Amino acid sequence: QVAAASGHTVVLVDQSDEILKKSTKGIEESLKRVTKKKFADKPEAGAEFIKKTLKNLTTSTDAASVVHSTDLVIEAIVENLEVKNSLFKTLDKFAPEHTIFASNTSSLQITKMANATTRQDRFGGLHFFNPVPMMKLVEVIRTPMTSQKTFESLMDFSKAVGKSPVSCKDTPGFIVNRLLVPYMMEAVRLFERGDASKEDIDVAMKLGAGYPMGPFELLDYVGLDTSKYIIDGWHSLEPNNPLFAPSPLLNKLVEEKKLGKKTGEGFYKYK
Ligand code: 3HC
Repeated sequence: QVAAASGHTVVLVDQSDEILKKSTKGIEESLKRVTKKKFADKPEAGAEFIKKTLKNLTTSTDAASVVHSTDLVIEAIVENLEVKNSLFKTLDKFAPEHTIFASNTSSLQITKMANATTRQDRFGGLHFFNPVPMMKLVEVIRTPMTSQKTFESLMDFSKAVGKSPVSCKDTPGFIVNRLLVPYMMEAVRLFERGDASKEDIDVAMKLGAGYPMGPFELLDYVGLDTSKYIIDGWHSLEPNNPLFAPSPLLNKLVEEKKLGKKTGEGFYKYK
């Protein structure tokens, strides 16, 4: 959405036409929200903006067959290194020489993905934040093999889609998640100990620290499965780090498929 809205030609790839239809509909709805604000006094210009953006966007279920026309690939598939590596390996065969590969992973090592390809110097991380149309930040991750030219291209691309990029080495969680995830886990532990209610913790962090959402609202928004995936990964890397300790409550909710807003229930219930 943000790439198409800023004039880039985008091919959105997913596993089935059904998913792509749903995604395109989601983008249309999201564009309407953005446009309502951006073009509040000029509905005609807003409608034109939506039309132009959607014109920049096509879809496909076959990444290998469309990658030949790309300058940049942004991968945002399931957080599983083997699956990601297999995709990158295939795309590496069909992509032009100059094409840069980037992963939007939350917590996996970019270096490991780059090593699955023959273009380690043209590989980096582009980490966006939910909701992407609203959040201004992009983390640009460079591995020891990322070339200066690739790094600059990723910084330039981030600016061209209207974001403010920051750079970070390929370290677990980069900047935001390295600070945010342990903070959210500490909130869960505070609640698990019975020291405060989740509602009060959320109010406290909104009114006392100026955060737009409390930690439990944010956990539900991000998805409890995603948060569990991140913390479990780090726990296996550093089992003695108390900041990365798993939470029985989070594990229980995920087991019960209460994954947050997207499933209608997480720490809170949603209609
Ligand atoms: N698409 C387009 N526009 C959207 C949108 C979306 N998905 N969500 C919100 N907006 C825009 C709309 O313009 C909306 O106006 P509207 O109500 O007229 O449609 C406007 O935002 C305001 O939205 P709301 O009134 O619903 O809510 P808020 O003013 O409270 O803002 C928020 C919503 C921007 C989500 C804010 O609560 C916030 O900043 N929350 C924290 C988000 C955060 O921390 N994200 C990072 C998560 S970590 C992550 O992503 C990393 C990953 O690796 C785990």
